[in-house]
Amino acid sequence: MASTSRKKATPTRHRRSTARGAPSATKANGSRPRDVIALIKADHAAVNQLFRRYASLGDRAFTSRRRIAERVIKELSIHAAVEEEILYPNVRAAVPNGEMLVKAALAEHQSLKETLAMLDECPPESEEFDELMTRARDDVRRHVKEEEASDGILGQLRKHASREELQQMATTTRAAKRLAPTHPHPHAPSTPPANVIIGAAAALIDKARDKMTGRGAR
Ligand SMILES: [Fe+2]
Repeated sequence: MASTSRKKATPTRHRRSTARGAPSATKANGSRPRDVIALIKADHAAVNQLFRRYASLGDRAFTSRRRIAERVIKELSIHAAVEEEILYPNVRAAVPNGEMLVKAALAEHQSLKETLAMLDECPPESEEFDELMTRARDDVRRHVKEEEASDGILGQLRKHASREELQQMATTTRAAKRLAPTHPHPHAPSTPPANVIIGAAAALIDKARDKMTGRGAR
């Protein structure tokens, strides 16, 4: 339960969506995460699994390398967007040093988005492609280690938010995923309300682009 001496998490925003096809994070046993911490951790595990699959591919498996990179770009773009729209504002409100934790996390997101944006434009035959995937993997490993630490964002949120708040955040996060951009937008705002407004517009453009290129179906 949240400490009574702490600020309570702000109510999460509810958004309706008719969009389909958003990835749904599941835990290793296939069940749906009940709270936002389990949901974010399931996202982290899913992306790390993609990096492991990428590492197992041969040097000339260009089509498979590109497809996995596209999945990584999509999953991480959605993940970063919902963390910035739902998770981080709640951390700022509920965790005593939340502002500092979120500021560090946003700097990491920015670095990752810039890497993903370059990867998005890079042909898999290029030497740079592998370097960018390695950089993205290392960025994600650092992000996961810091975010999941007991003194990190998720550890502190577990300490300072109630079970009901964490479950409500999971519901809102699942809805936000359906409206999130599927490509990186490193020049877009990363804090509310601008990120929610710009992010929704960017998501529409991304989804149209995915439909044209067939990426949404992969
Ligand atoms: Fe994360």
